[in-house]
Amino acid sequence: MNRPANRDVLLQPRPPSPLQEVRDERFERHGVRLLLKRDDLVHPELPGNKWRKLAPNLRAALEAGHERLVTFGGAYSNHLRATAAAGRLLGIGTIGIVRGDELAGRPLNDSLARCAADGMRLHFVSRSRYRSKADPQALPLLLEEAGAAGAYVVPEGGSNALALAGCADLGRELRGVTDVAAVACGTGGTLAGLAAGLAAGQRALGVPVLAGGFLSAEIRSLQTEAYGGPVGDWALAEDFHHGGYARVPAALEVFAADFAARHGFPVERIYVAKLLWALTTLTGTGTFPPGTTLTAVITGRP
Ligand SMILES: Cc1ncc(COP(=O)(O)O)c(C=O)c1O
Repeated sequence: MNRPANRDVLLQPRPPSPLQEVRDERFERHGVRLLLKRDDLVHPELPGNKWRKLAPNLRAALEAGHERLVTFGGAYSNHLRATAAAGRLLGIGTIGIVRGDELAGRPLNDSLARCAADGMRLHFVSRSRYRSKADPQALPLLLEEAGAAGAYVVPEGGSNALALAGCADLGRELRGVTDVAAVACGTGGTLAGLAAGLAAGQRALGVPVLAGGFLSAEIRSLQTEAYGGPVGDWALAEDFHHGGYARVPAALEVFAADFAARHGFPVERIYVAKLLWALTTLTGTGTFPPGTTLTAVITGRP
């Protein structure tokens, strides 16, 4: 495989992502100042939390001499797509272990087709086999079956201790500029790192996009792995998943299209739309005292 000379360019620290103030009467009416942290602009091919999480892992993999990465995801995983793109940009091999053996042999959906076009080798496994990735005893066999023995392992969603360190940089970029920094959550890794990077007195607010209410424990465990225990002042707003992962009811669709039109940026539906809906609702019900500066982290683009 080609080894592009621009590896350093991909892996170097990048300038802080832009911070934009927006004028929106739904916030102004309650004395709340709304800022958008445009992390979707941090890297052209690895937007938002994808670059924050992957770059430290890619650096570690290359420093340890790995030329292949293996990771995990569902059939529509943004994380699989970002890992495949990183592999192409770095000239290293990628293997994606995909949840759902019923997908094997069928035409690839657009997301997986993009992974394959970027050179990712896809290995489909049953849901129960997929779950075995969390069992340290069973993982080596799963990797071997996928032809990924010896490859650098990036966990599902990219959330590990190195990823938290990358997301803590996002928190550091927000020191001194906001009271509350809010982010949509899947695995919770971005919130876990963001909270660790904020200064004392600043709060992080997470909006889970999956139903289930299991995320606090996951975030505590990610922070314990990375920092030895819970870090930072964070909380979750659990009531804004709209029925579960990738559910976008008509009202949310209308809200997202309107927000995009009002403020002139593309609103990603699966995560970012639920975050913005949550912040608009919570502001409307007086959750944030007048005078609060609230920052919505825009973690991705459609
Ligand atoms: C656009 C976007 N925002 C937020 C998240 C959630 O990140 P985390 O899994 O770290 O909670 C993801 C995860 O894939 C994402 O793609």
